[in-house]
Amino acid sequence: MKKEEKRVVVVTGGSRGIGRAICLAFAAPDKQVFFNYFSPADPEGEKAHAKKTEALVKEAGGFAKSASVNVALETDVKAFFKEVLDETGRIDILVNNAGITKDKLLMRMTEQDWDAVLDVNLKGAFHCTRFAARAMIQKRYGRIINIASIVGVIGNPGQANYAASKAGIIGLTKTSAREFAQRGITVNAVAPGFIETDMTAALSEKVRASMLGQIPLGRAGQPEDVAHAVAFLASDEATYITGQVIHVSGGMYI
Ligand code: NAI
Repeated sequence: MKKEEKRVVVVTGGSRGIGRAICLAFAAPDKQVFFNYFSPADPEGEKAHAKKTEALVKEAGGFAKSASVNVALETDVKAFFKEVLDETGRIDILVNNAGITKDKLLMRMTEQDWDAVLDVNLKGAFHCTRFAARAMIQKRYGRIINIASIVGVIGNPGQANYAASKAGIIGLTKTSAREFAQRGITVNAVAPGFIETDMTAALSEKVRASMLGQIPLGRAGQPEDVAHAVAFLASDEATYITGQVIHVSGGMYI
């Protein structure tokens, strides 16, 4: 297959966890994966994780290229999409996965905690959706998949900022699905429950045990469980599905 015929997949936050599994789900000879990552606290460590994702995708028979980009900043997102478009001329699939937490009870939560989480999780998806959709509209084809969370639907003490950002993701998903439907673009969300990644490794044993107790299927999810749902929504089998939220939570939310 010629390079210019391969579908271009953009994944935000692809260096680790769920994002890495999503990149790997698109490791195939007919796809090119471009993903970003960002960690102001550990830029070199995060870059090493990204290089590992690139290598794993290549090992699995695909193509992946990464860049450090803060999705919260419009200028950085614009430059990232320009680079992808200059190289490929197309964007077929966008997965808005980058996300952070800054957990605190509401009465202790600062404006900075609120803004940081909303800026990455929600505004980041807004920026990426707009730049990707511009390219998708030209080709009258696109798949946008947003990673929400069960918490955006049922709430969680200590996560007002995070839950608000994820509820916002669901509103963004439903609205962009309606706006882009006539342009051949579908937009859906996947709402994971409790998935084993660095994000959940930070939880105490007590919180972990309590979470596990709430999962009817009796186990924590793996990043691949989420990636499979994303791959389905991006596939040609999902052409008639838009504006939906698929919960991947072992039945935590029914
Ligand atoms: P993680 O902490 O393992 O990885 C986060 C990824 O986002 C990394 O690749 C990091 O570089 C990237 N990132 C962080 N800030 C960024 C920024 N400003 N710009 C670009 N990239 C940035 O997280 P995990 O667990 O893999 O989560 C991925 C997504 O799934 C997030 O949106 C998270 O909210 C969501 N999710 C995770 C759940 C879980 O149980 N792990 C449950 C529900 C939703």
